[in-house]
Amino acid sequence: AKIQMKEELMNSTVQMTNGVLTKKTNMEMKQIITASSPPKTKIQSMTPKSVNNNSTPISKKPNAAIPSKNAEPKPKNSPREDATYEKFIRPQLPIDVVEQQLMHELASQETLIVIGETGSGKSTQVPQLCVRAGIAEKGLIAVTEPRRVAAVSLASRVAVEMGTDLGGTVGYHVRFENVTSHRTKIEYMTDGIVLRKALVSPLLDKYSTVIIDEAHERSLHSDVLMCILRKCQAQRRSTDNPLRLIIMSATLQADKFQAYFDNAKVVLVSGRTFPIEIHHVNPKINKSFSATDYVYNTVICVKHVHLTEPKGHDILVFLTGSEEIEAVAHQLAELNGSLPREADFILPVPLYAALRPEKQREAFQKTPQGARKVIISTNIAETSVTIPGIRVVIDSGKVKTKRFEASNRIDVLKVHNVSKAQAKQRAGRAGRDAPGKCYRLYTREDFQKFDAENMPEILRCNLSATFLELMKLGMKNPHRLGWIDPPESQNIDAALLELTSLGAIRPINSDRSKFVLTEMGDVFCMYPLSPEHARILFQAQKEGCIMEAIKIVAAMQTDALFSGGSDSKSDAEVERVRRKFETREGDHITLLKIVLTTNDFFDQLNAKTEADARYNKSNKSLEREYNEAIRKFCNDNMINEQHLKTGSMIEDQLKQIAIEQNVKFSTCGADLLKIRKAIAVGLFLNSCEYDRQEDRYRLMINPAITVKIHPSSALSRSKPAYIVFSELMKTNDLYALQVTLIDADWVRPLITEHKKIRKNHLAETAQRIQQIAKVEPKTKKQKLIVTF
Ligand code: CDP
Repeated sequence: AKIQMKEELMNSTVQMTNGVLTKKTNMEMKQIITASSPPKTKIQSMTPKSVNNNSTPISKKPNAAIPSKNAEPKPKNSPREDATYEKFIRPQLPIDVVEQQLMHELASQETLIVIGETGSGKSTQVPQLCVRAGIAEKGLIAVTEPRRVAAVSLASRVAVEMGTDLGGTVGYHVRFENVTSHRTKIEYMTDGIVLRKALVSPLLDKYSTVIIDEAHERSLHSDVLMCILRKCQAQRRSTDNPLRLIIMSATLQADKFQAYFDNAKVVLVSGRTFPIEIHHVNPKINKSFSATDYVYNTVICVKHVHLTEPKGHDILVFLTGSEEIEAVAHQLAELNGSLPREADFILPVPLYAALRPEKQREAFQKTPQGARKVIISTNIAETSVTIPGIRVVIDSGKVKTKRFEASNRIDVLKVHNVSKAQAKQRAGRAGRDAPGKCYRLYTREDFQKFDAENMPEILRCNLSATFLELMKLGMKNPHRLGWIDPPESQNIDAALLELTSLGAIRPINSDRSKFVLTEMGDVFCMYPLSPEHARILFQAQKEGCIMEAIKIVAAMQTDALFSGGSDSKSDAEVERVRRKFETREGDHITLLKIVLTTNDFFDQLNAKTEADARYNKSNKSLEREYNEAIRKFCNDNMINEQHLKTGSMIEDQLKQIAIEQNVKFSTCGADLLKIRKAIAVGLFLNSCEYDRQEDRYRLMINPAITVKIHPSSALSRSKPAYIVFSELMKTNDLYALQVTLIDADWVRPLITEHKKIRKNHLAETAQRIQQIAKVEPKTKKQKLIVTF
């Protein structure tokens, strides 16, 4: 009876949650129209004339052509009209048991660690407890999430629980979207946003409390945040506005965090209420399973579960990436044709970070009668989001992660086994509402071989962008930062060398152990870009092509604009459209061509809509026609609408920063040589020379490394003598992605300089390592001292 009651309560939660989500979806739909239309306002406002007086802010307003009724959405902070929100009754959560203890510790502890399994109520309840404990009177409560989807969905949920509008007492701030107001007390944010806030206001004194959620994920940003917040806390300790830190983790190993935060108090929230039955693959019994193809096994397993488990038990499948997920979704949809008559319909729902927000929300919606929802997700659903109704988890045991090889500056994207902790997390998703089952597509023996914990991101990524941000905060010696898990010395040195070569930092002592930002590095920090991409903008300013550079760099931050067509397009058609955009100069210029073509299209569309509006067409039909025209344009030109929208928002943001930096706007028109030069200078570490004999390209800074141009590049056929690329991908070979034709003279002086710096750097590094070997750190505690 208890379970039944809980289920009823859960159902009411779902409906109300959906109420909010639907509301938000409508708003977001409007934003899509809006965001797709900026090219009009953008082009008008960004002509050099209007920008020079700095009085024209970049407009993100809806299409001026659609009359004002649609253009003015209801203010986010207006009083709520829907009375249902006031009546919200939250189901019991494991965290309720320790509420008194938490209130007590919140009143007395500077740092608190809260450990509890996913679903115990940490993310939604702890911030509210802070408000109830009166802490919010002294400053905002910040909650950091590794992913934007979690920040948005948690804020929506807590707003419902507190009976307030989103952007009222509870708000969120993620990249390109700030839904907060002067009334906001709880602000959910991505950890990257908090980091950028710290760059502007290093003491973060607007906030009384920072809650680092999902600390067990050990994302790069959350590790960096822990490092700088510890320092910030020390600085605010003796003021009348001390900083409270709450570290929340879903894995039970608190020791590391406890040691890092000076033996901070730990509050344990008891585990989930419902048992989970775990099934591993047994090759002797499960003969139809493939030994290697987990995607194939996934489809078989879903079919098996669908035909054997009770109706209404939704399934959550863990795979590694969007392509795989879409392929499985497609196959599952096709399975419906061969199911027995009495079986329910399989409703496949993909869920991954790059999916459109309204598409992501489908995962949270109530399953229709007569269907079984099968959510196919990346590790996004592992800890970050709560999906109600899941009773079965199917775990491929795989995850895709990027790993940086510092020795040759290559990011290797690889599918590998999850850790034991991850596998447990995944299984746990099945037992949130009722007893559940987890089908693991690997054997019990395989599981035993998995690593215990995830490798922290800081140990496997390029550190240059992070160091740049930390140096902006005053860090001088990255070798002596107090990380929870310090990165390898070799990785630190590689990042320092890269930043020095790009002109962003310079050494200030003879043994090259301390560095400071250069003026140029200071400018780089203003842009939320990698140092290389910021360098392109810097150079473009000199060359007189900042407008073009911003468009290209913005497009480089999104996934591919050119979608390569859908199943319905013939190869010949795809080729025809591809050639329309392809340029001899290379892929960066192709990006520019796509963006400019799109801008022209929006110009014409907006003019037409404006004219139609004069003929008194209804707003609704104007909006419908407008959206249809955009869809048709994107379809005809095989442009990914979502990526275009993202690129357009990033372009606006970059322009806004440029205005704040008093950048003199310039355009090179048809003189594309200037923009190619800016790209070459920014990416000079990636310049290559063609080796005709080998039929491969040699990296100019390290000719021992040879690469191929990826077949998706326009230059893979013409093979010019000198190129630069945006990134290297290692699959069955080393491929250069996004390639541009360059003149060797543009990069030679920079490469010579780089080699000189590297020589000094290597000599000094060798010496420093010898010295470090001689002086052993005295105590463990001393090693943890933060020395900026
Ligand atoms: O942070 P933790 O994983 O411990 O739990 P939580 O995110 O606070 O979730 C507590 C409960 O709130 C879940 O069991 C869900 O029932 C509900 N919830 C929800 O319905 N929608 C969300 N976006 C977040 C939580």
